[in-house]
Amino acid sequence: MMTDNQIDNLVKSLFDGITFTREPAGLYDPLRYMIAIGGKRIRPRLCLTAYSFFSDCIDEGILAPATALEVFHSFTLMHDDIMDRSPLRRGVPTVWKKWNEDTAILSGDVMLIDAYQRISKAPHAVLDRVMELFSRTAAQVCDGQQYDMDFESEEEVPMAEYNKMIGLKTAVLLACSAGMGAIIGGASEAESEALYRYGYELGMAFQVADDYLDAFGDEKVFGKPIGGDIVNCKKSWLTVRTLEKTSDKAAFLAAFALPAGTPEQRAAKISTVRDIYLQYGVDQDAKAEIVRFTEQAMQAAGGVGFSADKMETLHRFAEKLVGRAK
Ligand code: IPE
Ligand code: IPE
Ligand code: MG
Ligand code: MG
Ligand code: MG
Repeated sequence: MMTDNQIDNLVKSLFDGITFTREPAGLYDPLRYMIAIGGKRIRPRLCLTAYSFFSDCIDEGILAPATALEVFHSFTLMHDDIMDRSPLRRGVPTVWKKWNEDTAILSGDVMLIDAYQRISKAPHAVLDRVMELFSRTAAQVCDGQQYDMDFESEEEVPMAEYNKMIGLKTAVLLACSAGMGAIIGGASEAESEALYRYGYELGMAFQVADDYLDAFGDEKVFGKPIGGDIVNCKKSWLTVRTLEKTSDKAAFLAAFALPAGTPEQRAAKISTVRDIYLQYGVDQDAKAEIVRFTEQAMQAAGGVGFSADKMETLHRFAEKLVGRAK
């Protein structure tokens, strides 16, 4: 089993050394930019962590699929930033802002293809399973992104619907990362399933944390504009929970419907909505929900006989995500 440090170094060297086609530059420069600006790279990290539970052999059969998860994730972000009209990602301008929307669409497309090429390097013995898992996951992310957009124009979204949406747009990719690492490493069906479910619950916690940070984070650390979800009328965890708790739905909906055309209007809308969140204490509720999902992640991993050492590794991984500020 690799240590956390060894996995961190491996992931770093993977992306420091990554190369993509050079020409045409208009297509591949944005892709290089997106990978070079980094990010937390938790999906390849999770994949390699799960893999290292079962195998010590570090070769292309695992490194290429682990890399693919990050390339795929970065592709979804490139398109997501167009859809969410977001100007900032990882502390720098988004691709559609720096170049233009057409560029972000086509560079995103080629990243998806690049991801498939890397996934196809998985060992022959498990290639069918890996392909099936990855394709299913990629389609689910699209389903989730569509629900996310549909919800923008819905007045109220029940928590169960919200959970289903984030399960699709975010949690399945973390689940896939852990599950795929386990499958390639040679885990039993029960073990890879347990790690898949661990990744799923962790992904749920991760998206609730993302929603929390979108309203209450520090832009310099978070790397994304604070209040973007409020401006875009996203049904974030905070919104859904407020609508569950409020006795004055009309007042909240009115605040949520405030105009956000100018910078002054955006600032006023963000502060009005944020005040309501604080008034109902949904910021604290979100923190409790993140802890709850994290506990569920640990429960999901339990019961298949992982050693104390492995459980401790999974616990540390989860704690790092929960405590994140970016
Ligand atoms: C952002 O993902 C999108 C969500 C699923 C919340 P990350 O928070 O993993 O983004 P990077 O890759 O670290 O920038
Ligand atoms: C997750 O949702 C995005 C994807 C699954 C691509 P968000 O829209 O909240 O992600 P950020 O906040 O822009 O990173
Ligand atoms: Mg989005
Ligand atoms: Mg977004
Ligand atoms: Mg977000």
